[in-house]
Amino acid sequence: MLAQLDSLKAEALAILATANDEAALEAARVNFLGKKGSLTTLSAGMRDVPVDQKKEVGAKLNEVRIAITEAIESKQAALQSAKDAASVAGIDATLPGRPGYGVGTLHPLTKIRDLAVSTLRRMGFVLAEGPEIETEWHCFDALNTPADHPARNEKDTFYLPDGRLLRTHTSSVQVRTMESVKSLPIRIIAPGAAYRRDEIDATHLSVFNQLEGLYVDKEVSLADLKGTLEFFFREIFGPQTKVRFRPHFFPFTEPSFEIDILLEVKGKEPRWIEIAGCGMVDPAVFDEIAKKRGDDLLGGEKVTGFAFGLGLDRLAMILHGITDIRHLIENDTRFLGQFA
Ligand code: DAH
Repeated sequence: MLAQLDSLKAEALAILATANDEAALEAARVNFLGKKGSLTTLSAGMRDVPVDQKKEVGAKLNEVRIAITEAIESKQAALQSAKDAASVAGIDATLPGRPGYGVGTLHPLTKIRDLAVSTLRRMGFVLAEGPEIETEWHCFDALNTPADHPARNEKDTFYLPDGRLLRTHTSSVQVRTMESVKSLPIRIIAPGAAYRRDEIDATHLSVFNQLEGLYVDKEVSLADLKGTLEFFFREIFGPQTKVRFRPHFFPFTEPSFEIDILLEVKGKEPRWIEIAGCGMVDPAVFDEIAKKRGDDLLGGEKVTGFAFGLGLDRLAMILHGITDIRHLIENDTRFLGQFA
């Protein structure tokens, strides 16, 4: 058996030395090491080797298997490097590159979203998300929006045949979060798409981008709301930015405000422009969600909270002086390249 193994090794190595393509190499592997290969067949003979010779024969078997395996591997590596060399033959890597392929840049919307998210994360907000196809309950009912509210109109909202809808604001993520959290505080932000059946013009698209925020705990106050959002807008628009809270109405907050910033463009009269909606979460919202949860984490006027929502497209437009929102979706690199 020892002699047989030696001659098998010699035979295998000789054949492998002349195997000059992958098919020949694979055939040799199957012939020697495969399930029915000669080495495999020989090893079956181990069972008839007298006990006192088993150790020696076993060691030899191993030696032959390793020798053949290594020969196959080194041949494989040699074939691969020959192939690699052939594929770059004739290419002069020292020639200068071809110009013309500009380096990509982040989309202005991506940049404003990243800036808004990182600013709010520094204040302890974490990201949350919810589906863009929503139920009426998550988008409206749980947010204290009456059945006859104009936003629920078929003219304004995209409804699916099954009664669900494309969310008209990211406020539905407030509901999704409050429905499922296990403990307080809740401090989330949710950037994402919102959909409305608006006529498309310089300031409206039927898909746009919002960022929602929600902070709920035992003693969240209006002062927290003002401090957080003033800080936020000064981080985005600069430390001197004037921010004003103007009383307004939203069904899901009480009191509610619209936030304006004073826009000062060189050569123009300064003017206040609306930039976000916000308010203290209406207890009716907590109650409705507490009913759905079936526990008392949010119910019984035990908690307070503030919420806000802003348009990211609008933020980008104000920040960069973009006058037509449609530029943001046209993917014209002459436009996009300006924000690099
Ligand atoms: N969802 C409102 C909208 O799309 C914006 C908004 C207003 C969100 C007040 C809020 C809020 O969270 O408190 O117009």
